[in-house]
Amino acid sequence: MKNIIFIAPPAAGKGTQSEKVTSKYDYEHISSGDMLREEIASGSTLGLNVKNIIDKGQLVTDDIMIDLIKNKLNKIGERPFILDGFPRTYNQAIALNEILDDNYVAIYLQLDKEIAMNRTLGRITCKCGRSYSLLTENLKPKKDGVCDSCGEMLLKRNDDNAESFSVRYDTFLENNSPIIEFYQNQNKLNIVDASMEANDIFKEIEKVIK
Ligand code: AP5
Ligand code: MG
Repeated sequence: MKNIIFIAPPAAGKGTQSEKVTSKYDYEHISSGDMLREEIASGSTLGLNVKNIIDKGQLVTDDIMIDLIKNKLNKIGERPFILDGFPRTYNQAIALNEILDDNYVAIYLQLDKEIAMNRTLGRITCKCGRSYSLLTENLKPKKDGVCDSCGEMLLKRNDDNAESFSVRYDTFLENNSPIIEFYQNQNKLNIVDASMEANDIFKEIEKVIK
């Protein structure tokens, strides 16, 4: 199976689709956002340094992110992986390219700002990384307020408010063009319409990774 790089604005479904991929195929899910939130929850120095930045919807510095992801990729060995949330800048894409072999696809989940905003405001998440939607029947948790996977209580993320969302979405737009161009030039870019129903998006992803 091919390694997957998701490129997408906030709430386009990186986490939701990663969950679908890992429940059917043997993939390591690497979510940069989840990794940072774990650092915050653990009270580490890194966590303390990045908390404010993340809550406001801004980007953590390239140096920190590149180190974090390189270390993680070193640890997982040969297992195929999904990168959910990295790279987010051109510098990150270049740093990643230096360590990747050719067996990967970049999947751009395209979603406009208004739909993404609604999804963000309707999301509840678990600290295990799973996201649910209060707006879409087949994305709700089986039991209200409780994670299907681990039984923990579901919460709103600190950055899931209109203001932080807007910063996150605009930051994505500001950084995205050179990244898309980079993967297009490598012949690796696949564009998927993320406004579709989640299972239909997954079918498109399956076509690309096999
Ligand atoms: P991160 O956690 O990656 O946040 P994000 O990019 O804003 O993306 P989200 O997690 O909000 O959305 P998602 O695409 O995973 O959507 P989901 O599947 O949950 O990053 C957080 C922060 O960390 C950043 O802002 C930054 O500060 C920092 N950071 C992380 N990586 C960094 C990097 N590389 N460099 C610098 N800083 C970095 O779906 C959203 C909602 O929609 C859910 O409720 C879901 O149930 C629902 N939904 C999903 N699919 C559908 C569908 N098809 N139809 C209807 N509803 C759907
Ligand atoms: Mg996510």
